[in-house]
Amino acid sequence: MSIYQATASAPVNIAVIKYWGKRDTKLILPTNSSLSVTLDQDHLRSTTTSRADPSFERDQLWLNGKEDEIKPGGRLATCIAEMKRLRKETVEDKNPEEPKISDYKVHIASYNNFPTAAGLASSASGFAALVASLAYLYALPSSPSVLSAIARQGSGSACRSLFGGFVAWDMGSQPNGADSLARQVAPQSHWPEMHALICVVSDAKKGTSSTSGMQRTVETSALLQHRITHVVPERMESISNAILQKDFDTFARITMKDSNQFHAVALDTEPPIFYMNDVSRAIIALVVEYNRLSLEKGQGCKAAYTYDAGPNAVIYALKENVKEIMQLVVSYFPQKPEEFKDVLGLFGEGSLDLNAQAKVPVGFNEAVAQRFEIGAVKGLIHTRVGDGPRKLSDDEGLLAANGLPK
Ligand code: DP6
Repeated sequence: MSIYQATASAPVNIAVIKYWGKRDTKLILPTNSSLSVTLDQDHLRSTTTSRADPSFERDQLWLNGKEDEIKPGGRLATCIAEMKRLRKETVEDKNPEEPKISDYKVHIASYNNFPTAAGLASSASGFAALVASLAYLYALPSSPSVLSAIARQGSGSACRSLFGGFVAWDMGSQPNGADSLARQVAPQSHWPEMHALICVVSDAKKGTSSTSGMQRTVETSALLQHRITHVVPERMESISNAILQKDFDTFARITMKDSNQFHAVALDTEPPIFYMNDVSRAIIALVVEYNRLSLEKGQGCKAAYTYDAGPNAVIYALKENVKEIMQLVVSYFPQKPEEFKDVLGLFGEGSLDLNAQAKVPVGFNEAVAQRFEIGAVKGLIHTRVGDGPRKLSDDEGLLAANGLPK
């Protein structure tokens, strides 16, 4: 008897032009286009195994080993139903020889290799891996753009994780969402020197979720309307050109401006929403002062901060500058040595005591921020631009022979 199963992994993406606001909450159609950098799944990824079997009684999903309810009409149910429909329409109806596995129930096991407690958005990589694994299971001929329209209905930002490199999500104009798709602006290989330093900032309290926060912004913020109409269209074009020309200075300026404006529309929401905290703001001050030095030398910006719906900072920088930036961050935010993994070999063999590396560049005004205690930034993840979803071998599958998580 055949086993119908496939495993895929998918990357995290961090937007430089932020998606914030829906014009259709069910189809997840945005009020503006957005653009992101896909991060390397060698470091951060979701892995998902899907299996279809006539013996399964209902669709079931386990996230990190724990069953997650698939609510009827909810986002998970929608994505699974849409993938079954694609299988039926593009494979089974066209070729009657193909097994009708779209009728079978599915078991899905998903695993994130980064802790949810790190406060990193897992919904983007999670829904992208779900859609990619079902696309392999169902042997769909569909393009990543077509799949992005389904991942989008799981979580808006997930549509951008169907591609590697630099990815735009065009908002589209059709009411049914047919043209609200992700598209690759440039592949990973175009600008592999693009690196990212994620500063994981402690956050005890549970903030406002993206979904409810952006809905409130749509309902109450006048500033959002200005952003949608007069700011984002021009920025999408300028940052796409900056990426194509590998113009880091322009890329950095737009990235920081757009992060600032996203947090400004959050503040303009009623009641106001604050995602950044004192640590986030201190990291902004460090990046601004660091850039001031390089601007003074006529070198343009060398670092760009961006913040999503939480206090974590992501600093984009070219590979050649990451070490200096890391040393600067550690000077203000000492690290627990055992927490640091030098995955990209920045400091070479054996020098894992990151705090011993702390130093600020010559001429840096040290008064721009206070020095914090160990734990204020509870981890640093150094990664880089990466590729899109990968098909993994059966050995890497997350479901045991009995169809339950291993
Ligand atoms: C600030 O994609 O998590 O990260 O579509 O409601 O699931 P839903 O929201 P989500 O929002 C992401 C918002 C953001 C900006 C971005 O990734 O573009």
